[in-house]
Amino acid sequence: MTTVQILLTLHILSALVGVGATVSYFFWLRRAVLVPESRAFTLETIRLLERWMVTPAYVIVLLTGLGLIDRASWAWSTPWLELSILLLVVLMGLVGVHARVIKRQIALAADGSDNSAEYDSAHARGRIFLLAKVVVIIALVYLMVFKPPLWG
Ligand code: HEM
Repeated sequence: MTTVQILLTLHILSALVGVGATVSYFFWLRRAVLVPESRAFTLETIRLLERWMVTPAYVIVLLTGLGLIDRASWAWSTPWLELSILLLVVLMGLVGVHARVIKRQIALAADGSDNSAEYDSAHARGRIFLLAKVVVIIALVYLMVFKPPLWG
């Protein structure tokens, strides 16, 4: 196995872990709505997944992606790669802000304020951040698969 093959295997596996967990939040969040008595537990599980699974996975995606640029002899100035790095940073930023919203929801659920307007607005914001993450992920997959010339 070559270094490039090892890096690509790790790159794709970590992307699968990060993206798979992220998409599963649609189900977790739906369950948080449908089963109020387990709401705090469900939201806490999302928070833990985000911290211990998704964030490390995206860091590995970035590191192996940078390794692939180096080892697979891509120019660092290749536009689709520059855009990919930018989008991954945006994705990690969205992970950070969504985590803050989830944390607020957990606090509200824990003190019994999860039937409030504040909880509803946090829930709506969380869904927007989740959708934004999915859009960025689709854009990244497009860049990886099609490697479009863009402005280069
Ligand atoms: C969620 C984000 C990402 C996903 C799902 C993803 C997925 C993939 C996949 C499936 C491939 C294999 C494509 C092929 O062999 O034709 C690939 C290759 C590659 N990716 Fe990513 N990637 C992501 C982020 C990144 C980022 C941020 C970078 C830049 C740092 C990057 C750099 C690369 C490079 C250089 C290759 C090798 C392309 C080649 O030599 O054919 N990826 N990625």
